[in-house]
Amino acid sequence: MAILKIARMGHPVLKTRAKPVANPTAPEIRKLINDMRETMADAGGVGLAAPQVHVPLRLVIFEVPAAALDEGDEDDSEFFSQVLINPKVEPRSDELESGWEGCLSVPELRGAVPRYTHVHYEGSDENGTLIERDAQGFHARVVQHECDHLDGILYPMRMSDLTSLHYISEMRFNSTEDPSNETS
Ligand code: NI
Repeated sequence: MAILKIARMGHPVLKTRAKPVANPTAPEIRKLINDMRETMADAGGVGLAAPQVHVPLRLVIFEVPAAALDEGDEDDSEFFSQVLINPKVEPRSDELESGWEGCLSVPELRGAVPRYTHVHYEGSDENGTLIERDAQGFHARVVQHECDHLDGILYPMRMSDLTSLHYISEMRFNSTEDPSNETS
């Protein structure tokens, strides 16, 4: 395994539409996933898309509360790592909610981003198994953020009000509202 270099906003790989993965179970894809997991853990993120490590393929990894995978209570403290290859995401309703986001490719910043509250997503995992799921709340937000990376979209491009684009070090929060762990 290896820790990969993360591309930052402005790098061309983050602006282009990533290509489908031809064979999700190929050894080089498994190696990429392992390296991305190590890179994400090292950087302290909750999600990472292949273009962020200079690989223009449609592959993302993210961590969601384990219970969310069973469409249960998302307050569960156990986190589960999900691989999604060639994903498709569709909103389940028109409802949008604003929430804080960060991105490993946009370091030291946070911004409030409107996202669909309910989405349906599908894709393949690293074993070639079809993953198909409804997601809401934080789970839905992470999936939308990561899959946007595959289409060359970074979260500031989704913001409706840029006044909330902040350096973390300048933010003053209520103790109940800490966005510092939502980096992907
Ligand atoms: Ni990101």
